[in-house]
Amino acid sequence: MTVLVLGASGATGRRVVEQLLGRGLSVRAMVRSPELFLNSIGEHERLSVIHASILELSDEALVQHLCSCTAVISCLGHTLSFKGGIWTTQVACYRGDEACVRFD
Ligand SMILES: NC(=O)c1ccc[n+]([C@@H]2O[C@H](COP(=O)([O-])OP(=O)(O)OC[C@H]3O[C@@H](n4cnc5c(N)ncnc54)[C@H](OP(=O)(O)O)[C@@H]3O)[C@@H](O)[C@H]2O)c1
Repeated sequence: MTVLVLGASGATGRRVVEQLLGRGLSVRAMVRSPELFLNSIGEHERLSVIHASILELSDEALVQHLCSCTAVISCLGHTLSFKGGIWTTQVACYRGDEACVRFD
């Protein structure tokens, strides 16, 4: 079973990824900064990384990623920063959650 984790680099996402790997599942982690993510979590034979921002993926690409997995867990969060305001992250959460619902 392969699980796609959105927001895998966040506080919740990292714990979810670790727990899934610990339970023997394969994980595809969608992150905006693969190097930072892998430095923090470490390489694993059942962990693959998709370098993408959910806001910039086309619908087709998003569907392709969703269809390549058995389940999707969204750990997208709202981070206030100068790079992207709360609106941007709300759109990302909405898009990720909508995609999960449609996938279901
Ligand atoms: N932490 C808790 O104790 C807790 C408890 C209950 C529920 N929750 C819920 O869990 C969710 C995540 O919380 P968190 O504390 O883990 O948040 P977080 O540490 O801020 O992580 C947010 C994640 O969302 C990603 N993200 C934000 N904007 C994005 C965008 N535009 N495109 C792609 N990825 C984007 C971040 O990626 P980057 O690393 O690239 O920024 C990061 O991986 C929230 O909905 C929160 O309400 C958290």
